[in-house]
Amino acid sequence: MRALVAGGAGFIGSHLIDALIAEGHDVVCVDNYFIGTRENVKHLAGNSHFKMYEQDLADFGVVNKIFKAEQVDYVFHLAANSDIQASAGNPAIEYHNTYSTTFSLLEAMRLNGVKKLFFASTSAVYGEQMGREVSEEAVALKPISYYGGCKLGSEAIISSYAYMNDMSVLVFRFPNVIGPRLTHGVIFDFVNRLREDPSHLRILGDGRQSKPYLYALDLIDAIMRFKDVKKGVTLYNVGVETQSSVTRIAEIVCEKMGLSGIPFEYTGGRGGWKGDVPVFAYNLDKIHAAGWTASMTSDEAVEKTVEMVL
Ligand SMILES: NC(=O)c1ccc[n+]([C@@H]2O[C@H](COP(=O)([O-])OP(=O)(O)OC[C@H]3O[C@@H](n4cnc5c(N)ncnc54)[C@H](O)[C@@H]3O)[C@@H](O)[C@H]2O)c1
Repeated sequence: MRALVAGGAGFIGSHLIDALIAEGHDVVCVDNYFIGTRENVKHLAGNSHFKMYEQDLADFGVVNKIFKAEQVDYVFHLAANSDIQASAGNPAIEYHNTYSTTFSLLEAMRLNGVKKLFFASTSAVYGEQMGREVSEEAVALKPISYYGGCKLGSEAIISSYAYMNDMSVLVFRFPNVIGPRLTHGVIFDFVNRLREDPSHLRILGDGRQSKPYLYALDLIDAIMRFKDVKKGVTLYNVGVETQSSVTRIAEIVCEKMGLSGIPFEYTGGRGGWKGDVPVFAYNLDKIHAAGWTASMTSDEAVEKTVEMVL
């Protein structure tokens, strides 16, 4: 197939491109390097199965021209603002990069007869709800960040385009993803702070924020396995059953850096920042029943990622 990967110069998108090319597909990547990097796709330069467009996906005119030129038959939509803290003070970042990119891509799909879509959604659409009741069937979706709101808005408009245009759509809602090519987040912050000053470690919140961390290559495995879906929208929560607390992540970083007895200084409060969901876990029964489970626990994914960052 000829696939368009929107946001393909990003952390997850670049791994997806590698997997698609390894499976024998041609890939057209569109990314404006808003957060993604040239470094992530550098190894693909000169590969006849790869083509790069440096363009803003919120610009429908540009997107439509790419669709007309490239005749793709599957769109993998991973473009978004992935820096949730940054958009807390400027919601327009989400409207442009997370919501409008979805609209442009859907409209170009409609006008060019493209029927297959993968959408990278997020556990942030559930907001602060957690536990067994947070399955794909949960009716009350209450995002608390602008990012989560624009992802949920994207899911809504995808649902209508799928119905109106007989599209086959796979939506994955996943939590924090870590692994090779990661560029920001709590692991980076801790490593950088300790490199600058190993006398103590400042930790946002009370350290008990606890979330599942999914290894990037586990996620890619699930996308590749489930990408051929029937007509309509197929939705899965994708993640790991276990969680890692912020304090546990700090301990793992210290262990791997060979530092012991470092005092942890907590800024206090439940969450790291407003819009952060401090404790999260959700129901993964559906994807497990479909035959997929992550190969690594949350702590294992943290350990492996810390080793790569160091
Ligand atoms: N990393 C996670 O923990 C996580 C969790 C849940 C969902 N997701 C979703 O998965 C997807 C990939 O996440 P990631 O961690 O690889 O983030 P990322 O920031 O590395 O990748 C997103 C890519 O989209 C590009 N982009 C953003 N706005 C654009 C625009 N207007 N035009 C063109 N390109 C644009 C960025 O430059 C970047 O390369 C995102 O949609 C994200 O919301 C990520």
